Amino acid sequence: MSMSNPIFHVFPDADQLSRAAADEVAGAAERAIAVCGRFTIALSGGSTPRRLFQLLAESPYRERIRWPRVEFFWGDERTVPPDHPDSNFRMANEALLHKLDIPACNLHRMQGERTDLAAAARDYAAEIGRVFATSAGVPPSLDLVLLGMGPEGHTASLFPNTIALEQTSHWVVANHVQVKGTYRLTLTAPMINRAAQVMFLLAGADKAAILAEVLEGPHDPQRLPSQLIRPTAGSLHFFLDQAAAAQLKRVKP
Ligand code: 6PG
Repeated sequence: MSMSNPIFHVFPDADQLSRAAADEVAGAAERAIAVCGRFTIALSGGSTPRRLFQLLAESPYRERIRWPRVEFFWGDERTVPPDHPDSNFRMANEALLHKLDIPACNLHRMQGERTDLAAAARDYAAEIGRVFATSAGVPPSLDLVLLGMGPEGHTASLFPNTIALEQTSHWVVANHVQVKGTYRLTLTAPMINRAAQVMFLLAGADKAAILAEVLEGPHDPQRLPSQLIRPTAGSLHFFLDQAAAAQLKRVKP
């Protein structure tokens, strides 16, 4: 097994997957806020989490979460302005954030629009450090990191054969993604792996083959960066629809 003891949650379709994920996020938020007075979450991008975000803004989840106690981070961001159609921030803002009364100081946006992306990555790491009152060394522990998985096995913006995969000390990097001819800002695997809980969300038949390869194929994280995600002490969850889980041999979809 190429990942440390993942917990699988498989559902008939993407909507039921999203509802279960919303329940999981709400539960994690309730627990963190009850114990620590706040909930720190890194949102994923792409299209899969959109329904989850929409559900979180609706009853019953909207009322379950004390939103002013939630600190929002992002797992990665495209190098575009926050109002660009490709922006992960824009997607989350439209689906969830603008519908809620979230203090602006709780929205820790990756500034993908900046020309100096190395500085943007450094500043984002400093922002994380400010919120967690730590400055360097072992990354702080986010309560929850949401992740997707791309068709070639990337997660966040940890793409195959990119320098971000080599990072052992940085928490955030500007990663040059040759295949896309662009840079991305991304949390590194060491930062993600310090989370108390990591949730992958995958839906659709087009994810079945890559998921099976990541979970049940040879360990080859340069080619399959999602294999780098092995929480050091936290839990690792896969929220899947049956179509995405269809090629798994160990999990009965
Ligand atoms: C991004 C995401 C990326 C995404 C996967 C899956 O910025 O695109 O962070 O890692 O989660 O590419 O995307 P879909 O959910 O659209 O399949």
